[in-house]
Amino acid sequence: MYYFRGIIPVVMDKKQQMENIVGLAKRRGFIYPGSDIYGGLSGTWDFGPLGVQLKRNIMKLWWEMFVDQRDDMYGIDAAILMNQKVWQASGHVDTFTDPLVEDLETKQRFRADHLLKDAGHSVDGLSLEQMTQLIRDNDVKSPAGNDLSEVRTFNMMFKTTVGPVADDTSISYLRPETAQGIFTNYKNVLDSFYPDLPFGLAQQGKAFRNEISPRDFIFRSREFEQMEIEYFVNPTAWEESFEHWRQQVWKWTQALGLPDDMVHELEVPENDRAHYSKRTIDFEFDFPIGREELLGLAYRTDFDLQNIQRVSGKNMDYTVKGTNEKFVPHVIEPSFGVERALMAVLTAAYTEDEVNGETRTFLKLPEHLAPVRFAVSPLVRNKPELVAKAREVYAILKKKYGAVMWDDNGNIGKRYRRQDEIGTPYCVVIDFDTLETDGLVSIRSRDTTEQIRVDVNSL
Ligand code: GLY
Repeated sequence: MYYFRGIIPVVMDKKQQMENIVGLAKRRGFIYPGSDIYGGLSGTWDFGPLGVQLKRNIMKLWWEMFVDQRDDMYGIDAAILMNQKVWQASGHVDTFTDPLVEDLETKQRFRADHLLKDAGHSVDGLSLEQMTQLIRDNDVKSPAGNDLSEVRTFNMMFKTTVGPVADDTSISYLRPETAQGIFTNYKNVLDSFYPDLPFGLAQQGKAFRNEISPRDFIFRSREFEQMEIEYFVNPTAWEESFEHWRQQVWKWTQALGLPDDMVHELEVPENDRAHYSKRTIDFEFDFPIGREELLGLAYRTDFDLQNIQRVSGKNMDYTVKGTNEKFVPHVIEPSFGVERALMAVLTAAYTEDEVNGETRTFLKLPEHLAPVRFAVSPLVRNKPELVAKAREVYAILKKKYGAVMWDDNGNIGKRYRRQDEIGTPYCVVIDFDTLETDGLVSIRSRDTTEQIRVDVNSL
């Protein structure tokens, strides 16, 4: 491997890496624990100024790739609160559950599959009874060392009531997936646009799951953001579209700057698939917490549209143009979690190295995702003519790129370290040569720490 002159990469253990990322995220204004000032609210996170910019850059990239750049995709933005029939028809009221066990002493609740996995047991495809048996046979205890209850199901949807009367008819749920907002609008878009098959609807937005034990930073939280596509296909051609989206997913992980060798496909066995899926590939990523699901690609068949047709009584047929051929389309669903994408991006970007004997931390973010594209400073802040020129350069870049930061705090070395830590690809410095000699500015690269002199108009 080639290293830039004087730079030696530092190898960290995974636990340390995770702690460092969480620490950096909080310290530098990417991600804060939710409601921290009141002691927090488990499973919630707030995005600070740099975090929200990074998140928006990821979401914008997704929308550009999968909606704007294609002519077979339609964007929507459905309401989060939906008629409870949506979740009855979709199967979520009955089956959207996780296995729960209780510490018999403290009454604390845990995910049974997590406790078993942490104790070194495989839980793939096990029923609740089998998990209970495994706990008994191996004397698995709670984290506090106490006996555990039997394993039972726990529905993960947040229930609420809509309007002033709280009774059975006013029940609603915070959506646990954005997908249902798409399925319930399939007919609307069909009637408005009458697209050719295959075509897809795409949506980004919040989803909510009452996780039994949220953990691992933003990996498993109770409120999160999804980016989902329901791609409607002729049932005879689902495999072709599945393969198409499989390739698109790889393009996506590459666009995020994730190295291919950190992304892995997992063909999910039948007994582990969601209730609606006939085939699922989980795309997993080597997070510091281990190899875990980054996103999913599922063949949902006509499960959802048939359910909607049955419960609503409305016809969901697609009529092939110029023919009498009618059928309920089948669906391929690539489903992306924004926070997981962001955590993968931070993981891939987080780097520690040694530059000329000094340790530095930096985020090697792809330029198109970096929350700050350029930082601009005068070499020193007490020379009005330098500051004025730097302000001029700042204004030009700010107008062109938006995500440009003015940074004149501390000495230049400290500024570089600070910008490295938030992943700013380039620092532009206005010095005396800019004024007196060549009119050029110095631009310093985050990755190589090397500096070149350029005309500001060429940036
Ligand atoms: N729509 C799939 C999921 O939310 O996991």
